[in-house]
Amino acid sequence: MYKDVSSCSTFNYGDALYWDARYVKEAASFDWYQRYSSLRPFVRRYVPTSSRVLMIGCGNALMSEDMVKDGYEDIMNIDISSVAIAMMKKKYEYIPQLKYMQMDVRDMSFFPEESFDSIIDKGTLDSLMCGNDAQISAAQMLREVSRLLKPGGTYMLITYGDPTARMVHLSQPVYNWKIVLYVIPRPGFERRAGSSSAHSFLEPVPVTEKGLLPADFVLEDPDCHFIYVCTKMVKPQGSIPYQPTN
Ligand SMILES: C[S@@+](CC[C@H](N)C(=O)[O-])C[C@H]1O[C@@H](n2cnc3c(N)ncnc32)[C@H](O)[C@@H]1O
Repeated sequence: MYKDVSSCSTFNYGDALYWDARYVKEAASFDWYQRYSSLRPFVRRYVPTSSRVLMIGCGNALMSEDMVKDGYEDIMNIDISSVAIAMMKKKYEYIPQLKYMQMDVRDMSFFPEESFDSIIDKGTLDSLMCGNDAQISAAQMLREVSRLLKPGGTYMLITYGDPTARMVHLSQPVYNWKIVLYVIPRPGFERRAGSSSAHSFLEPVPVTEKGLLPADFVLEDPDCHFIYVCTKMVKPQGSIPYQPTN
């Protein structure tokens, strides 16, 4: 039932040199997985427009520009690729709401703790998971994300990784995150005529005690994307790593 996410392509998505070379060759804006228009209902639900937002692994996506057009006031964008950051800085020098810095998500010590209300990740944890020392890189990055979030703040992860591959990283008790899961189809996906599914993509998907999809949950689009909304809880929740939704 679950997607096999163990197979990354042969590209080294965890390597800065790979991304620099890619952005030299492909300078035109590109959004991985989904455009802001599809993600807007989720972003607007969890990220107030007055939030201080950190976009990690921004690449040359239009997502942050689209968010500013939608009213967001303060978005710090970081990426390991100096090529992408140089391009984006120049492109958006006239938009004061957008800032760009070259930085590795595994070490964001430039920022003091609890600097951001919201951290958005579209495809960046996925890239680390395809690189060398994937498990260590993912843990370093998530520790930094947790450190930078204000209490009550949200980390929104947009990924192809299903709960069997991602919950083990996100549900570490040390982060104390309450996690809500959404499953959304890839752009252009059409429900089969006569599909009996009553599940709206805009509603959270209930997860089991172990944070997995229920056994009877049908992934209508096998190439769907997952949105994990991780809220940093103010008080420790003991050993409960996540709260299943109804
Ligand atoms: C799959 S792309 C996604 C780009 C963009 N978020 C989007 O949605 O189109 C992954 C991005 O993560 C960046 N990246 C990879 N490893 C990184 C790291 N350790 N630190 C910061 N950025 C990284 C890459 O340079 C690339 O721009």
